[in-house]
Amino acid sequence: MVVYKVTVSTAYFSGATTINNVFIKLVGTDGESEPQQLLGFKGAATFLSGAVSSFTVSCPLSIGKLVLIELDKQSFLLFLEDSWLPAKVEVKSPEGDVYNFPVYRWITDGAVQRFREGTALRVFEDNHHLGRYSRQQELKQREEDYRWDVYAEGIPHCIKTDSPLSLPCEVRFSFTKTTEFLFTVSAGLTELQLKGLAGSKENWTNIDDMKRVFCCKRTDLSEYVQEHWKEDAFFGYQFLNGINPMMIRRCEALPSNFPVTDDMVFLQGQCRLAAEMKKGNIFLCDYKLFDGVKPNVINGKKQYLMAPLVLLHKTPDDKLMPIAIQLKQKPADDNPIFLPTDSQYDWLLAKIFVRSADFSDHQLNVHLLRTHLLAEVFAVSLLRHVPMVHPLYKLLIPHTRYTLQINFLARLLLISEKGFFTEFAASGGEGMITILKRSLSSVSYSSLCIPDDIAERGLQAVPNFYYRDDGLRLWDIIHRFVQGILGYYYKNDSEVQQDSELQSWIGDIFEHGFLSQADTGIPQRFTAVEQLVKFVTMVIFTCSAQHSAVNSGQYDYSGWMPNTPISLQLPPPTTKGTASEATMLQTLPDVGTTVRAMSTVWLLSKQSSDFIHLGCYPSDHFSEEIPCKVIKDFQGELEVLSGAIKVRNKSLEVPYTYMDPTEVENSVAI
Ligand code: FE2
Repeated sequence: MVVYKVTVSTAYFSGATTINNVFIKLVGTDGESEPQQLLGFKGAATFLSGAVSSFTVSCPLSIGKLVLIELDKQSFLLFLEDSWLPAKVEVKSPEGDVYNFPVYRWITDGAVQRFREGTALRVFEDNHHLGRYSRQQELKQREEDYRWDVYAEGIPHCIKTDSPLSLPCEVRFSFTKTTEFLFTVSAGLTELQLKGLAGSKENWTNIDDMKRVFCCKRTDLSEYVQEHWKEDAFFGYQFLNGINPMMIRRCEALPSNFPVTDDMVFLQGQCRLAAEMKKGNIFLCDYKLFDGVKPNVINGKKQYLMAPLVLLHKTPDDKLMPIAIQLKQKPADDNPIFLPTDSQYDWLLAKIFVRSADFSDHQLNVHLLRTHLLAEVFAVSLLRHVPMVHPLYKLLIPHTRYTLQINFLARLLLISEKGFFTEFAASGGEGMITILKRSLSSVSYSSLCIPDDIAERGLQAVPNFYYRDDGLRLWDIIHRFVQGILGYYYKNDSEVQQDSELQSWIGDIFEHGFLSQADTGIPQRFTAVEQLVKFVTMVIFTCSAQHSAVNSGQYDYSGWMPNTPISLQLPPPTTKGTASEATMLQTLPDVGTTVRAMSTVWLLSKQSSDFIHLGCYPSDHFSEEIPCKVIKDFQGELEVLSGAIKVRNKSLEVPYTYMDPTEVENSVAI
């Protein structure tokens, strides 16, 4: 008789405990054990949340190298079946070898579940017939559990589910997250003490009333925004380090529909546009995506969404100053080019229309589409095609946490027929899907990879561009990490080419995420290790750093409504010299819309208490020495970067914190 020592860890997670009987079977290359009940001296506490319990399993002879374990649990007497979340199982063989079996999956019924030994295995090296069988069975089940659905034609596909409860347990929110995430506008309104104002359809009559409402909840930055929102330098700054750093690009030639002249912008003849463009000092933000989009109707009132063009000049003292704004794409007499030299309210209103268009571009294109919806595609396709024992699953699964559920809730509560954006944003309603479709056709692979994106937009030399500085450093760190992990498993390109699971993963992403559009530049299959490493780097960067950059500052920048109005109630001036403070107040959203928008962005930027920051991996999916060391190195590099960002921020008037690794969540979870 030989004895195997088995140690079972139950996850430290609300509801992870089981009091059912647990059985294990060990399967090795030379045989298998009988299914054996795991009876611990701790009694009912044996499989308590967080418990680590040891047992022995006897076999007549050694069963060789362990391939997998089978776990199941059975209810007994009158006890009902419960759900159990084992974290991992460790088995020490009579030969003294230690085998790790990562589990991290809920066992909810009496069915037998198989879990592979932790050493990562690609499909073409999975030689044991039982290993191969369990691999196929796992994927078969997953293809049933995770099905594609089409929310609207022309946008990335999503997970098919009717409610969070019909999602498989392992991708659902924790109890803590569910409790905290009472995603209703009313929860936010209560927290912001604004409940009484939510139904008001009154217009604001003065800025001081807005300040009184806003003082209920402030962040350091939202307070700064309230003080500086009218300033040109701050307006320019936000294109670099606000929540939408994706719109600005270097301007080398004026678009033909934006006839700005030297006389308009350089009154004293101090510069010439052509020369400044040549030097790389002129920048353009062009919201052409919104041209012709039908704006929303709110409370029976038509709303206004412009498709502006903004020209910016980098001054010798390194400020980015707006120098011309045209609010509609087609030049015309009733579509004036607004200038900083115009009357105070003409110029301010022009900037307000730009900020409002930026709200819609940010929320629908930059935030929802380019982070949330793509992250969901990466996750669903991973779950459908890549088994737990695959190195890519081990690498990416922590970066998919909560994404499927948060996106289901975003569709339900924000963009559905009764969703918040549909009801209150200028871009809500009919126009929203048009914008999302157009946005998807503007997404290219290079625009998702920050080094290529910055180069393509010509922004390498712009001063004080912290999104770029921190983002490029993070990209490099993530790239080294992915290279370390995948480079360990894939020694040459032919190993990548013959990995059918990898190929199915990217094939599904191409089809369901990018709707088989080859001109996006998204790979349709992987042919080289370096290509795979870059793509996986992009996936982790998008789900973590990029999402944080465009998500975490929502209240900071949009909490003070005039800086980022969700909608506008009057059209922009068609002639100069008529706008006043009263025009501005009538144009801004009414009181009820303002406070609802405030509460929504408050909820969307709130950090959950079970937030897991970038590079923190509470589940041990990898057990081999080299990948474990690569993870440690990754964590070390992130710590150094975080320290450097904190030091840099001390000297900044407006600290840029959104890409500090300690503030970046591993996945799209909010
Ligand atoms: Fe988000």
